Amino acid sequence: TKQKWVLGNWKMNGRLAANQALLSQLSQIQEHEHVAVGVAVPSVYISSALQAAAPTLVGAEDVSLYANDGAYTGEVSAAMLADVGAQFVLIGHSERRQYFAEDEAVLAQKYANAVAAGVLPVLCVGETLAEREAGQAEAVVAKQLNLLQAATLLKQTVLVAYEPVWAIGTGVVASIEQIAQMHAFIQQHVLSLLNNDASIRLLYGGSVNADNCAAIFAVEHVDGALVGGASLKYDSFAQIITAA
Ligand code: 13P
Repeated sequence: TKQKWVLGNWKMNGRLAANQALLSQLSQIQEHEHVAVGVAVPSVYISSALQAAAPTLVGAEDVSLYANDGAYTGEVSAAMLADVGAQFVLIGHSERRQYFAEDEAVLAQKYANAVAAGVLPVLCVGETLAEREAGQAEAVVAKQLNLLQAATLLKQTVLVAYEPVWAIGTGVVASIEQIAQMHAFIQQHVLSLLNNDASIRLLYGGSVNADNCAAIFAVEHVDGALVGGASLKYDSFAQIITAA
């Protein structure tokens, strides 16, 4: 069977001591070939996390749209993420789109920078509640996926996280039917964008927890999860990993 990916997204949470404790607990979980585990952490904690995390992957939550070095005060480039050893980076999380006005052009550049630096990009997509109620969910997600066309330059695994905005941090998980339908749509759309020449992994995100994860993992085209709140506590995250 296809390997599942379980990624945590810490968002703007954590402190050094607590991070190290959580990561060292996670590193005790028996490694299984059928599941890859990772955590996206605030960039200031990437280096310390890498020391405690193996075999858990460590990634960044965002990256600059500027590629290498320059007069961009406060920015962290993809080259820097690669330099400290970050293994993946979230691109276009809905909180970035919403609070930092990241649009398709910016995200296409960020995605390209990550690819160029050798840091695996995880493209996050998802519609708002208003968009779903207007019958626009698939159209919105299709538009968010379009930047993958430029990604054909590198024939690597394409990782997409479908996170309906209305399911993030709300406790309102998407229904199995909604997940199945959207994941099938994304699978087919990405294949057509990349001329059927891609290895695709689709993660579901939005209120994933220890209780609902098994049913979600059983859905066709769900290759894992992107977990927010439940990734901050060892018990819930470990249960999700075990269910994968
Ligand atoms: P929650 O799991 O807290 O709903 O967050 C999901 C998310 O945004 C992961 O990126």
